Amino acid sequence: MKSIRVFAPASVANLGCGFDVMGMVMDAVGDLMCVGIDEGLGLDIENRSGVPLPANVEDNVITPAIMAFLASYGKPMKVKVIIESKIHPGSGIGSSAASSSAAVFALNELLGKPFSIEKLVEFAMEGEKLISGGVAHADNVAPCLMGGVVLIRGYKPLDMIKLPVPPGFHCSVAHPDIMVSTKMAREVMPKEIPVRDAVRQWGNVGGLVAGLTLGDIDLVGRSMVDIVAEPCRKSFIPGFEILRDKVLKDGALAMNIAGSGPSVFALSKDDATAVKVAEIMKEHFAFLGIDSRVYTASVSDRGARVAE
Ligand code: HSE
Repeated sequence: MKSIRVFAPASVANLGCGFDVMGMVMDAVGDLMCVGIDEGLGLDIENRSGVPLPANVEDNVITPAIMAFLASYGKPMKVKVIIESKIHPGSGIGSSAASSSAAVFALNELLGKPFSIEKLVEFAMEGEKLISGGVAHADNVAPCLMGGVVLIRGYKPLDMIKLPVPPGFHCSVAHPDIMVSTKMAREVMPKEIPVRDAVRQWGNVGGLVAGLTLGDIDLVGRSMVDIVAEPCRKSFIPGFEILRDKVLKDGALAMNIAGSGPSVFALSKDDATAVKVAEIMKEHFAFLGIDSRVYTASVSDRGARVAE
């Protein structure tokens, strides 16, 4: 069996205002997996990560992603996946995206790169479809595969733009030990929004893209305001508004829900502030009797890659 070991990073989707259209890499954590191919047929997934995952192969996000890849490749084969370490599912930092992205990235490497990264994003989105109630969003898989910050300008056809990341862009993420599934978080979304809300939201998305492009981190921070998804989702996260007040007071530029939650994400101008903000997040959840994992990172330009 020919095999390869790959790493795919965590990612933060939405970046506040960019529901389903913005995402960035969070390279501090990720999925590590070994993927092998051989002649024959079938898909075998072995989970050695210690993180609970669906027992059936069909329920794993890796399966539809690999199936989409092989259907386009046009030659069936036997695929074996060994998951060595894994971002906790339901964390809101792109756990499913890291798995499906790592799997298709590995296959592409093993087969001599028949597909572009953009095409791999399409395959990996099939995994997102499985866990989102049928909607294939790209705002985790695109940064996971492409690195940095990515704007998905359109879905039909998929049109993705990798944006520059201003120097000093640091983030803190806290993943509280509570369960919020992407499906559940999408079900509470409004079906329609008033034009006045849309105006504020697209103003902010424009501000976010402009801030990243101009390297204006203050503009990035004040644009990360979400009046569409966050009002419906914040009740899933205990003390969300109190925590935001605290971290903004202590120097963070913005704080939002990371993807569909329950993780929260804050942007800071420098590493020292990001570390302090992460401590505040940890203390906040501990005070409420909730364990949490916290991470700080600068935004890496690197996406999925062959493991060193
Ligand atoms: N954009 C998606 C959502 C990301 O907010 O539902 C899910 O991780």
